[in-house]
Amino acid sequence: MTKSQLISLLNDMTLDEKIGQLVQVNGNFFLEEENVQTGPISRLGINEDMIYKVGSIINTVGAKNVITVQDKYLEKSRLKIPLMFMADIINGYKTVFPIPLAQGCSWNTEVVKRCAQIAMKEASVAGVNVNFYPMVDVVRDARWGRVMESTGGEDTYLNEIYSKVLVNAIQGNDISKEGNCVACIKHFAAYGAVESGREYNKVDMSERELRQYYLSPYKSGIEEKAKMIMTSFNIVDGIPATINKWLLREILRGEYGFDGIVISDYSAIQETISHGVSQDKKDAALRAINAGVDIDMLTNVYSNFLKELVKEDVLTISLIDEAVYRILKLKNELKLFENPYGNANAEKEKKILLNKENLEEARKLTRETFVLLKNEKNILPIKENQKIALIGPYADNFAITGEWSMFSERENIVTIKQALEERIGKEKILYAKGSNMLTTREMNYILKSEGKPLLKNGEELKTKKKYLNEAMTVAKNADIIVLAVGEHYKQSGEGNARVSIRLPKLQINLINVLKTLNKPIIMILFNGRPLVLEEVENKIDAILDVWFPGTEGARAIWDILFGNESPSGKLNMCFPEHEGQIPIYYNQYNTGRPNINNLRFESRYQDASIYPKYPFGFGLSYSKFEYKDLKLSSTILHKGKYDKITVSVTVKNCGKFDAKEIVQLYIQDLFGNVVRPIKELKGFKKVLIKANEKKKVEFEITEEMLKFWNKDLEYVSEKGTFKVYVGCNSKECLEDKFELI
Ligand code: BGC
Ligand code: BGC
Repeated sequence: MTKSQLISLLNDMTLDEKIGQLVQVNGNFFLEEENVQTGPISRLGINEDMIYKVGSIINTVGAKNVITVQDKYLEKSRLKIPLMFMADIINGYKTVFPIPLAQGCSWNTEVVKRCAQIAMKEASVAGVNVNFYPMVDVVRDARWGRVMESTGGEDTYLNEIYSKVLVNAIQGNDISKEGNCVACIKHFAAYGAVESGREYNKVDMSERELRQYYLSPYKSGIEEKAKMIMTSFNIVDGIPATINKWLLREILRGEYGFDGIVISDYSAIQETISHGVSQDKKDAALRAINAGVDIDMLTNVYSNFLKELVKEDVLTISLIDEAVYRILKLKNELKLFENPYGNANAEKEKKILLNKENLEEARKLTRETFVLLKNEKNILPIKENQKIALIGPYADNFAITGEWSMFSERENIVTIKQALEERIGKEKILYAKGSNMLTTREMNYILKSEGKPLLKNGEELKTKKKYLNEAMTVAKNADIIVLAVGEHYKQSGEGNARVSIRLPKLQINLINVLKTLNKPIIMILFNGRPLVLEEVENKIDAILDVWFPGTEGARAIWDILFGNESPSGKLNMCFPEHEGQIPIYYNQYNTGRPNINNLRFESRYQDASIYPKYPFGFGLSYSKFEYKDLKLSSTILHKGKYDKITVSVTVKNCGKFDAKEIVQLYIQDLFGNVVRPIKELKGFKKVLIKANEKKKVEFEITEEMLKFWNKDLEYVSEKGTFKVYVGCNSKECLEDKFELI
C-alpha cells in the first residue's frame, strides 16, 4: 500500500477499530474449542466485539495455527486488516541454541548472528512476524533469573555490539522476506538493574549512571533500525517505564529519533496501578498512551478505556491515530496486506525446521559458547584410552535448552549420555544418575510458584542412597569421572530470582562422596547465571561451563571434552566468590580508599575478597597464550582532529592446540570531572592462532571511545592521561599510557 492508501485506511476506521489495533491478545480466542465467551474473553475481560478488531497476537506459532487464526479473524473483521503475530524466539525456535548469556560468551558476533538467523529462518515459516528479542539490558546481578537472556552480560560495550548484531540478524534488509522478521528490543529501560536482583523490583539510579551504562545498548539497536521496543516492568526515576513520558517521548522518540512501535511488556500498563501511580485502569490507559505506548500487551486497559477517554475529551484522537498509523505502517512493511499469512508455510516448515544443516551448524556454533573455568594439570581434553564414568542428574537429561525454549520438543534433544554413546558405543558407557537434581523441598518451591501439585517432602531420601551407591560403583571402575551437574533450568529465567546461587545441595553432596575416591573429576556445569562454586571448586579438577546449550549441546560438549576443538568462550559476567559481593562487575570505581593492602580502612570485606572468583573476560583454552610487545603508535592523541592511535600486541600460542583467543582492549580515564571506572572494555578480537605461531593483533583508539557523560550530562571527552590495557581477561593485561591533548 502507498502512504496515502494507508492514511485513507486510517480515516475509514471507526474509533473502536482504531483502538483494536492497539490491543494484543493471545491466539486462544480463535483456536480454543471452549466457548470464547466464558473462556478467554472473560479471562481477559474484553468484549466480544473487540476480538475481531484487535491488531496482534502473542505467542501463537506454527504455520497451521497462524493461518487458522488469521483466517478466522479476517472472515469476521470489517476492514480485514491482517493480524501481526509476535512471539518470543529467544535462543531458537525448534532448533534450540545455547541461552543468550552463553552465546555472548563466544565473543564472536558471527556465532551470535548465525544463531539468530537460523532461529529466524525457522520461526518465519512458522508464521512469526515480530520477535520479542533481543534483550539488551545490562546485567550486573547474578541473583536475577533473567541474566540468562542477556547476550552482553555485565558490560555496556558488549551489549551495544550484540544489540546491533541481533537487530540486523533478525530483521535482515527486508522484514517481509522469508527468514526475517521485526526485532523488538527490550526492556526499555534498565530492567537489568532491579534492586537486589528481585524480579519486577525497583530500579533507581542517577541519570548519569543510566546514560553511561544502561541506555546505550537500546540506542545501538535503534540505530540499526529496530522497528519495535518493549517497555520494562520497572520504574525509572520513580515512574514506571511504561508510563514514563520523559523516557519514552523525550529520550526514545526525541533524542534517539525512534519512530517505530512501543509495546508494553506483559500487562505492564495495568501494573502501574499496583506500582501506586495510576489510580485505576482508565488512568493507566491515559498515562500510557500519553507516554507513547502504542500496544497494550494482554490486558483490557486500552480496549475498555481509551474510547471513554476520547469521548470525555481527556485524550485527543490524534494520539490514537499516531499509534494506529505506526501499526498499519509496520503491517504494510511486512507486506501483510498483500499476503496476510506472511511467510507462514506448512510445507516449508517440514523442510526447514530442525533440518540437517540447522543442526550441524548449531553443533558448531554451540562449541564456541562454552567457557573452560578450570583445567588442573591439563586433565582436559580426555585422552582416548581413559575410561569415563558419566554421572549426574544432567547426564541423561533432556532439560538442557533453558527456560525460554518454549517451542522446542524434548524428542529432538540429544542427552549427554546419548551423545557419548554415539561416540564410543553403548557397551562402553559407565553411567549413573548419582542424585536427583533438587531435593523435594527445592522442587516444591518451583512447583508451588507455578501452581502445580507438590511432591511429598523428603521423597528424595528414598533414592538418595541408591543413587550414590550406583555412582560409586561406576566411578570405581573408571579412570575419570565426568559429572554433569547444575541448576535446574527453572531456577533461572523470568520470575526465578535466587539469593543463594550455588549448586543444589544434593549435587554438592554427590561431589563430596565421589571425591573420596580421589579420582579426577571433570565437571560439566549447567547454569542460567554465574554461580558461587565455593563448596565444590577445590574438589574438581576441570570445569567446563556449558550453560544451557540447546538441541545439539550434548554433541558439542563431547567435541570439546575429547579435544576436537579447544574451548574458546570467555565470561561476559563474572562469577562471584560469594553472593554478598553482588552486584559485582569489572568496571567498578576505585573509591577514595582502594583495596591495595587489604587493610582495615580500605574499601574491602573482612570475610571475602572484593574480586570475583572468575573475572569478566575470563576463560581458559587447551592452549596457552603469551601476550608480548604492547605498542602504541603514538603516546599523544589530538582532540577534535579525528586522530587515531594504533595499539598492537603480539599473542603467541605456546600450547599444542590450534585455538582461538579473545584479545581484549580496555581503557581507563585516569581523571575525569566525574569519577571514571578502573577500566572499560573498548574492543576485542577473536583470533585463531595455530600451535606455536604468533599473531599481531591491532586495535585503534579514537577520541570517540574516550567520551563519557560528564558532570553537566554532556557526552564529551576530556583532555588528560589514559591507560590502555590489552590482555586475555579484565584482570590480566599488559598496560601503557597515552595523553589526549
Ligand atoms: C517478558 C517479556 C516477554 C513477554 C511476552 C514478559 O513477561 O518480560 O520479555 O517478551 O513476557 O512473552
Ligand atoms: C570516620 C569518622 C570520624 C573520623 C575522625 C573517620 O575515619 O569515618 O566518622 O569522625 O574518622 O575520627
